[in-house]
Amino acid sequence: MTRFAHVNGRYVRQAAASVHVEDRGFQFADGVYEVCAVRDGWLVDEGPHIDRLERSLSELRIGMPVARSALGVIMRELVSRNRVADGLVYIQVTRGQARRDHGFPNPPVPPTLVVTARSLDRASFDRRAASGVKVLLTPEIRWARCDIKSVSLLPNVLAKQDAREAGCFEAWFVAPDGTITEGASSNAWLVDAAGRLRTRANSSRILPGITRAEIMSLCRQHGLTCDETPFTEEDIRTAREAFVTAATYGAMPVVQVGDHRIGDGTPGPIARRIRDLYWTTRES
Ligand code: PDD
Repeated sequence: MTRFAHVNGRYVRQAAASVHVEDRGFQFADGVYEVCAVRDGWLVDEGPHIDRLERSLSELRIGMPVARSALGVIMRELVSRNRVADGLVYIQVTRGQARRDHGFPNPPVPPTLVVTARSLDRASFDRRAASGVKVLLTPEIRWARCDIKSVSLLPNVLAKQDAREAGCFEAWFVAPDGTITEGASSNAWLVDAAGRLRTRANSSRILPGITRAEIMSLCRQHGLTCDETPFTEEDIRTAREAFVTAATYGAMPVVQVGDHRIGDGTPGPIARRIRDLYWTTRES
C-alpha cells in the first residue's frame, strides 16, 4: 500500500517526501512535534494535542504553519489515505529553511510542516499491558525546558535504547535530588505504600502529558484522588503499583522498576482500572 505524508501544503508519497537539507529541524533540532493516537479511525484528544502544539511553538517563537482547522483536516486526510484504524498521527513543525546560522532567520522564513500517519499493533500493546512491563532507572540529563515538546530528543533516545538493551519497555529519569521526573516518552505514575496515586506535578521538568491530564480528570470523576508530589526510588521500593502513560498506548502497567519488583509482580488493580477507563471513555 502506498503511504502518504503531508509536507508544506502537499500530500506526497511518503517514500518520496523530503525537506530541505538546510531545514532548521535537521540542522539545529529547532522544532517541535505532537503525537496523536488514532483509535477505530478517530483522533484521540485532538484538541488538547493541538493546544499543546500551539504552546510549544509559541514558547519557541515559531508561528503555527496552518490554522488549527486546516491541521485537523490534514490529520484526518492522512488517517484516511493511509487507512489507519489504530495508530498515530505525527506532526512536526520547524522554524523553516534558511542558511545555517544559529540565530533566527532574518527576515523570518515560513515554518516547515510535516505530518505522517501510521498503524500500530493494538493487540501487542494489550498483550504487554496484560503482563506488565519493566522500567530502567537512568540519570536525568535533559535540559530545563522539558515542558516544550521539542524534537531535540537525544537524551530520550539514549535512555530508551539503554532500556531496550536491558529488556525494559521504558526508562525513568532520576533527577539529582533523587526524584523521578518522567519516562523517556511517557509520564510516570505510582500507587505508593499508603495507597495514594502519585504523579509529578506539571513544571518545566516534565512534558505536560495529554494522557496524564485526561487520566487525572477521569480519576477526579471516579473519586480517585491524585497526589502530585514527586516520588523517589525509595517510594518505588515500597510501591504497590506503577504505570506509565502516553498517547500511543494509554496507561501501561509496570511490574518492575530497576531492581525493584512492584507489588506481586503483576499489573495492579488501579493501573488496570485506569487503563480500561481511559480507553472506554475514548471509544464512546
Ligand atoms: N511521547 N513525556 C515525554 C517525554 C513524552 O515524550 C511523552 C509522549 C509523554 C506523554 O505525553 P502524551 O500523554 O501527551 O502522549 C510524556 C510521545 C508519545 C512520543 O514522543 O512518541
